[in-house]
Amino acid sequence: MASTDIVDHEPDTGDFRQGLIDGLSRDPKDIPAKFLYDERGSELFEQICETDDYYPTRTEIGIMETCLERVSELIGPRARIVEFGAGSGRKTRMFLKALESPAAYLPIEISKAALRGCAERMQTAFPDLEITPICADYTEPVELPAPPSSVGRTVGYYPGSTLGNFEPDEAASFLRRIHDLCGDNGGLFIGIDLVKDRDTLEAAYDDSAGVTEAFTMNILDRANREADADFDRDAFRFEAQWQPEHQRVQLRLVSREAQTVHVGDTPFEFEAGERIVTEHSYKFRLDQFAELARDTGFSPVENWTDDDELFSLWYLET
Ligand code: AVJ
Repeated sequence: MASTDIVDHEPDTGDFRQGLIDGLSRDPKDIPAKFLYDERGSELFEQICETDDYYPTRTEIGIMETCLERVSELIGPRARIVEFGAGSGRKTRMFLKALESPAAYLPIEISKAALRGCAERMQTAFPDLEITPICADYTEPVELPAPPSSVGRTVGYYPGSTLGNFEPDEAASFLRRIHDLCGDNGGLFIGIDLVKDRDTLEAAYDDSAGVTEAFTMNILDRANREADADFDRDAFRFEAQWQPEHQRVQLRLVSREAQTVHVGDTPFEFEAGERIVTEHSYKFRLDQFAELARDTGFSPVENWTDDDELFSLWYLET
């Protein structure tokens, strides 16, 4: 098998129109965050990561520069790295470069196009690395191919605090599944964003360049294009609000007026000021994440933060 052949679990990519109708039928209305990442949305997300206001990406990279040597020592040689979701690959390349003769890289990604792009970029960066791209929805149970006996630990990689997009009960069940997936003697290297002051959080999720607003509004264009909806972008405004009682930032589109929007033939009534929730981004305190890790079967081995304790990286063992 050529190293970039895809193991295709034929994931249900989610019928966008049905997902949209289901979300808009809830109270409060929502649109599941996974629908934000069409081609344009993924491009805008990469731009968010470059803005001055969005601190997580550069902070996580800064922490990696200081901790990767130690992480590599903890993981040991010939590890098999399983990444949940395939991003631009910048952080993954840093991580793999720091490891001692990694045995294999297995990205799990729902979008076949994104997965193929990721596998090709990584193969170019690491010509001798065995790459097994797996097309699957990583929020559903996935099976890994059995590791050859020469392989060291199986270590999950979940950077970017993407765990924060899950509701708390979903985050716990996701971690439990990763724990089982990585098996005995496995590990997890994970990035977790930390609770901080309102101004920093709200600026990060409503950046002054307007990229996050464009990223969120893009879902309305996608709905009009792919689900026969008739949203008027100008009839909504974007908001990001820190909700300390839930330890989350809520991203939403707020109807500027009373209006009716259609998805195909189905009408949805909006009151003036009514919201569509597009994302929650949960934040943690260090002790809370340690507890969540233990509750889901892991042992926290070490964690690292930047000097301002904006963001954290963790190495957990199964
Ligand atoms: C990809 C979920 C980590 O919550 O920080 C950033 C998504 N949305 N700005 C985050 C996001 C708007 C991001 N995660």
